[in-house]
Amino acid sequence: MFSVLDPYKVREDFPLLQTTLVKGRRLVYLDNAATTQKPVQVIEAVRKAYYTSYANVHRGHHELSQKSSEVYEEAHEVIARFLGARDWREIILAFNTTTAMNYIAPSLAEYLARRGKKRIIITMMEHHGSMLPWRRAAPLFGLRVDYAPVNGEGLLDLGALEAMIDDDVGAVVVTHASNVTGVVNDLRRISGWAHQHDALLVVDGAQSVPHLPINVADLGVDFMTFSGHKMMAPDGTGGFYGRLDVLEEMTPWVVGGGAIKEVTLEEVVYADLPWRFEPGTPNITGAAGLIEAVEYLRRLGMDQVHSHEKRLVTHVARYLGEVEGVDSYLPRGAFDLTGIFPFNIRGLNPHIVGQLLNDQYGIAVRTGLHCAHVYHHAMGLEEGTVRASFYIYNTVEEAALLVDAVGEIARKYASA
Ligand code: ALA
Repeated sequence: MFSVLDPYKVREDFPLLQTTLVKGRRLVYLDNAATTQKPVQVIEAVRKAYYTSYANVHRGHHELSQKSSEVYEEAHEVIARFLGARDWREIILAFNTTTAMNYIAPSLAEYLARRGKKRIIITMMEHHGSMLPWRRAAPLFGLRVDYAPVNGEGLLDLGALEAMIDDDVGAVVVTHASNVTGVVNDLRRISGWAHQHDALLVVDGAQSVPHLPINVADLGVDFMTFSGHKMMAPDGTGGFYGRLDVLEEMTPWVVGGGAIKEVTLEEVVYADLPWRFEPGTPNITGAAGLIEAVEYLRRLGMDQVHSHEKRLVTHVARYLGEVEGVDSYLPRGAFDLTGIFPFNIRGLNPHIVGQLLNDQYGIAVRTGLHCAHVYHHAMGLEEGTVRASFYIYNTVEEAALLVDAVGEIARKYASA
């Protein structure tokens, strides 16, 4: 069935997937939207960096610092190619999507206020890491935050969003793929509406960059964040793409050593791009791992990654859709989907279901509100959901194990 992307071959590269859990069960890891496991290639790249080239970047004129800086700069180039950015200086490395968005929000809000903009639109689908930095930063610069609604199925209300965008809007902040339902938003369309009104499209790519082919220019994206740890790179890696002409006009908000050229008591002259947005010592060895993670995905092909995950989700949805007592929240009519299957067992709190899946079947999933409270409330799911999320190393056998386990739990405990 999986002749192109062979998950059995892929999993041989992942030491932790060979884990046997306490009761002798093999680990079935379906919590990939939270973070992914790491292949030996990435682990080895981090080890090699510590063994052969570790020193601080951009500071020293000594040999180790030069080597370390070369690898760190290469990480920017690799990510730029992966996202379809035109220039490596458009890539800023941070520690994950949340820190990236916290770097972007105040700087961009200040830039937009300077240009006479008055509003920021955020969708109700946003993860807290994408929503809260704007709620905090926008009012500091006199910008109002408005929320684009979702319908009961969890799909963005595109008609309402389009109607909300006018010339006062400085930025539309939207997730590319939801961390709760896996729904993919049609960025090209939203970008068209935003650009008609000289508004920027700021995208949370945490759940799409690891799973879909991305080209920021084709999609009409002005800013896009990503998390390295959700795409097999070490934790503490991630960052964002930003359009060069806008970055050049923005003043950094998170500042310190490394981000400046010169400081006197009267003046601060910021460093060239991208360094002016990367103060302090970065995750140097993480960047070496990030390069390997991207190379791994590039070898597999992002189209293959996407189709593999969708096959697994379709398999689970087909079988669990027929099981009495299981409610699936995979929205119908989505523009596209990633490898997430959201569900509940009627009458059971999602945390109980997660505990049963772990204790009795060795299946790791995430449960609750997934740092997306507003989205869950909008769908009327006050206790949240159970989220099974797939990646390149998950097999159809694992999808079938999930189906059997959820079916068994529903037969035993679901309320009518
Ligand atoms: N955003 C991560 C998740 O959805 C933490 O699990």
